[in-house]
Amino acid sequence: MMTFPTDLVPVSWTTGLVAIVLALILRALHLTVQRCFFHPLAKIPGPRLAAISYLYEFYYDAWLGGKYCFHIEDLHEKYGPVVRINPNEIHIKDSEYYDKFYNISSKLNKDPFYYGFLDGPDAAFATDSFLGHRQRRKAFNKFFSPAALNALEIQVQKNITQLVHRMEEFKASGRPLRLGNAFRSLARDVISQYALPDGFHLLESPDLGEDLSSVNQMLSHVAIWNRHFRFIFPVLMATPSWLMHRIASPGMIQLMKFQMYNYEQSRRIVVGSDKGDDRETVLHGIHNSDLPESDKTPARLFSEATTIVGAGSETTGATLETLFYFILTKPDIRSKLVAELESAKQNGADISSKATLLGLPYLGACMKECLRYGNEVSGRLPRYDPNNVIVWRDHSFPPGTIISMNIADMHMDPNCHPRPHEFDPERWLDPSTAATAERFYAPFGKGSRACIGRDLAQLEVLITTATLLDKFDLRIFETEYDDVKPYHDFFSPFQKEGSKGLQVIVQ
Ligand code: HEM
Repeated sequence: MMTFPTDLVPVSWTTGLVAIVLALILRALHLTVQRCFFHPLAKIPGPRLAAISYLYEFYYDAWLGGKYCFHIEDLHEKYGPVVRINPNEIHIKDSEYYDKFYNISSKLNKDPFYYGFLDGPDAAFATDSFLGHRQRRKAFNKFFSPAALNALEIQVQKNITQLVHRMEEFKASGRPLRLGNAFRSLARDVISQYALPDGFHLLESPDLGEDLSSVNQMLSHVAIWNRHFRFIFPVLMATPSWLMHRIASPGMIQLMKFQMYNYEQSRRIVVGSDKGDDRETVLHGIHNSDLPESDKTPARLFSEATTIVGAGSETTGATLETLFYFILTKPDIRSKLVAELESAKQNGADISSKATLLGLPYLGACMKECLRYGNEVSGRLPRYDPNNVIVWRDHSFPPGTIISMNIADMHMDPNCHPRPHEFDPERWLDPSTAATAERFYAPFGKGSRACIGRDLAQLEVLITTATLLDKFDLRIFETEYDDVKPYHDFFSPFQKEGSKGLQVIVQ
């Protein structure tokens, strides 16, 4: 039988506390020494504080609100093309390397720490392993494939017709319209109504989804906090609805209702009371796929729905806003676009159809320039290879090293896109610049994790631009570039707080 010593001196609370603090200090010292001198990334240049602790990133990203991506730019100025930006991650600025790293044949995993900002941790988007992602994405690929383009086109046209009706109201009243906000609601309606049994109906709401757009900006900031403290989203989701109704704004309540409805739709599909007889949606597709049963729970379907809608809304809305800002402030661009559309119409073409619009070179060049200039995914897309060494120039990084790059670094590289801060659609048409421009262009990412909604997003941009230029004479209202330019990186870039974005008078 085991006996216990009876002569032990009882430890007081104070002594216990001191011991814990000492242990923590020792642990911190050990980590500091290990990360600075014995870590595989110890020789990579960068601020000491970033090498030692995630608090450095936390300060710029969460505390200051999406400022790390701008600070990383400064770090590259100081330290060169490779910088250690947190204890386990390096950031590379090298346009030539982008294609090699995010290659379709490289089997890279996503960094789970960074993608902890997503509130759908089980969605394909957030799945860290290469193989797990491949299986999940396969379950809904067909809904965004070239074969689905006609269905996507019909959805986009339907929602643009609604937007036009709402804009007629503004034309009649002469009130300024927050066009950027209207574009975000358009994009949110398109993807939610296409992908789910029933989606948002923001274009029908009295404020055209204005409050929801500002809630989205606020929640995107909260998401960055969630990257560092994973309990935030779960606590938010568990907040009782009676409390939310007391403290939340109308947009937040609208979003909550939608999320609850969305969960209910997922549940109905799983229990079989909604078989998708009218229309097989993305959620039905996932449920009918050969994924394991553990991937067909209401919570998993809900995660997938939330992430797809999130990914397709801010990005596309903001792209349209940037494009219209330049169309409305650069009369030569506007006249060329209008002339191209007029000429297509005179030849009997339907300018709301993708068949016509895909054949209009100037419109296509404007769209590309906007996707280059706008960089609507500002996040740094970190990846790691769990099995292989990664070689960059004369460096070899061991398996597991987290490496990230920013699309904007390539899009704004003067060696790839001369005068990168100039919005110039001609660079895509001029034979002396077009080939290089195409080579260093990846607004939708590259490789196996590239955007699934690429074709849908481009359809939205083309059809919306052509339709609004044809139907209305839009005049810019009290908007400077400062009102639309990115101030915060919450994976998507966001404008400065309180900005009304692009405003127009509809004529
Ligand atoms: C101009 C608009 C858009 C831009 C610039 C854009 C850009 C991107 C980029 C760069 C990625 C890669 C993210 C990463 O590596 O973590 C991505 C992923 C994704 N996008 Fe888009 N996107 C746009 C519109 C859309 C739309 C309309 C949808 C709707 C279906 C969508 C759905 C997704 C999804 C689901 C992923 C994750 C793909 C995966 O991991 O398999 N995006 N997008």
